Amino acid sequence: MVLNVLFGAGLNERAVEIGMLMEPAKEYLEQSALRQLPHPFPYTRRSRARATRQELDRIVDAEMQRRRAAPSAASSDLLDTLLAARGPDRLTDAEIRDQVVTLIGAGYDTTTSSLSWATLRAASDPDVWQRLRTEADEVLAGELGPTTVPRLVYAGAVVRETLRLHPAGVFSPRQAVRDVQSARS
Ligand code: HEM
Repeated sequence: MVLNVLFGAGLNERAVEIGMLMEPAKEYLEQSALRQLPHPFPYTRRSRARATRQELDRIVDAEMQRRRAAPSAASSDLLDTLLAARGPDRLTDAEIRDQVVTLIGAGYDTTTSSLSWATLRAASDPDVWQRLRTEADEVLAGELGPTTVPRLVYAGAVVRETLRLHPAGVFSPRQAVRDVQSARS
């Protein structure tokens, strides 16, 4: 979905391959801080992440070249916007590639794991599951539009509680500047 929404069908066709190429970077980032220290050694998680990043760069480069060779007036996604930028907004190819890889990395595992946790937690509690179903039946029965999502009030609360219990993106931690207490305790 991330690939499709941000970068259209061209990269989405290679979603499975791109997903597999993101895995070594994830494995590398999920190690302890000490093991993440930069080094040039081969046959390590870092060297695998380096190699798959180069592979990803080649895929993004090929997509940029394809679009430059045959610009499409029909569609315009984020990659088209980055490529079309002129003047002070213009990015180098390396910067565009970094943006694309960052957005895929930031948008792919966060949403996947958050949705998986939300489904698991809700399905584990019959009351929660039933309230979600009732609300969905009511709200989604009508015409869908910009007001649909805000009206899914209970689903919104389930998502927020899921993100509180199972926050995605935990490898850039913050330290609270003052003590906080959970509303439940
Ligand atoms: C459930 C979904 C998501 C969660 C829980 C989540 C969580 C986070 C967290 C915790 C950070 C780090 C913030 C910081 O430490 O400064 C972050 C940053 C970021 N996220 Fe997400 N994210 C989600 C979805 C997405 C999606 C779908 C995209 C893009 C399509 C995205 C793009 C980014 C980017 C670009 C940054 C870096 C922002 C910056 O500091 O420049 N995220 N996200």
